[in-house]
Formats: sequence, structure tokens, C-alpha cells
Amino acid sequence: MGENVCEEIRLVDNILQAEDFIRLRIDTGFAEIPVEHARKALQNGLINVSAIYNDELVGMGRLVGDGAMYWYLQEIIVVPKYQRKGIGTMIVNHLVDYAKANSITGKFTTIGGVSAKGKEPFYEKMGFEIISNGIKKMIEIE
Ligand SMILES: CC(C)(COP(=O)(O)OP(=O)(O)OC[C@H]1O[C@@H](n2cnc3c(N)ncnc32)[C@H](O)[C@@H]1OP(=O)(O)O)[C@@H](O)C(=O)NCCC(=O)NCCS
Repeated sequence: MGENVCEEIRLVDNILQAEDFIRLRIDTGFAEIPVEHARKALQNGLINVSAIYNDELVGMGRLVGDGAMYWYLQEIIVVPKYQRKGIGTMIVNHLVDYAKANSITGKFTTIGGVSAKGKEPFYEKMGFEIISNGIKKMIEIE
């Protein structure tokens, strides 16, 4: 692995396969999900991006929302071996650029998300604010 991995990273939109999405989630401690569930999630998101290094999938990110006013980052993931090389930042910036380019609400738009515990500095470094008035509810599905 060279020093400037980022220079050799390709970000490719909407090629992520459900099976790879599941694998990256599991590799970084997220729960396993059924493949049809993952497929539908990818289809119904606004955009997903794959980070490719030497033909290997090393990271991903998703942007969900209504495509005009509300944007949310989901599953920003870099495989452990490639973390702390700037790839996560590239992924988030790419998704933010997409939101910017597609915003039609006027001068400002807001991009939200939920930071995994301990990952707040990653988002803060890119100018995201950690807010205390977000809302969240876990619902049990029978
Ligand atoms: C969070 C994650 C996507 C960051 O990706 P990354 O490619 O390693 O991040 P970057 O190299 O772009 O990091 C940029 C800066 O963010 C901060 N940062 C990154 N990871 C961090 C961590 N685990 N803890 C604290 N700060 C972190 C650092 O300031 C870093 O700069 P530095 O390396 O010069 O100190 C990656 O650690 C990951 O996939 N983790 C597991 C999945 C996860 O929790 N995703 C977030 C879901 S909300």
C-alpha cells in the first residue's frame, strides 16, 4: 500500500452490490441484514458510493433523503485496513457535493446523520456539528 492511497482511490456511484454492502457492515460491527433488505435499501437511497483501490472495495457511503430538501448520510464505512488514510473524508465530501448539486431549496440545505459513538471527531473535522436535539426511537419489528 503506497503512502498516498487517496490518490489511487476511485469513487464510483451506484455500483455497490447488496452482498458487499452486507459484508462491509459486518466487517465494521454493524448488524447483519437480509440480502433483499439490503438490495431494497440501496435501490431506494439517493446515491451510494463505492471506494475502490486496486479493484478492491475498501469503503462505501450512502445518502438517503427526498433528493431536494433533506439529506442524510448513512453507512459511511471504510474497511479497517484502510482507515485513517482520508478515504472516509473523500466519501463524505462526495456525498455532500451530490447534495449541494441537487439542492433546490435556496441558499442553504442541511445534511444530517447519526454518528456512531466515538466517531464524532471524524464528522466534526468536516464541519458537521454534533447536536443534542436530534430524535431517535428504536422500534421492535414483530
Ligand atoms: C468512521 C470511518 C468511516 C472514518 O473513515 P476513515 O477513512 O478512517 O477517516 P479519515 O481517514 O478520512 O479521517 C479523517 C479524520 O477524522 C478523524 N477520525 C477518523 N476516524 C476516527 C476515529 N475512529 N476516532 C476519532 N477520530 C477519527 C480524525 O481526525 C481523522 O484525521 P487524522 O487521521 O488525520 O487524525 C471509519 O473509521 C469506519 O468505517 N469506522 C467503522 C464504521 C463506522 O463507525 N462508521 C461511521 C458510522 S456513523
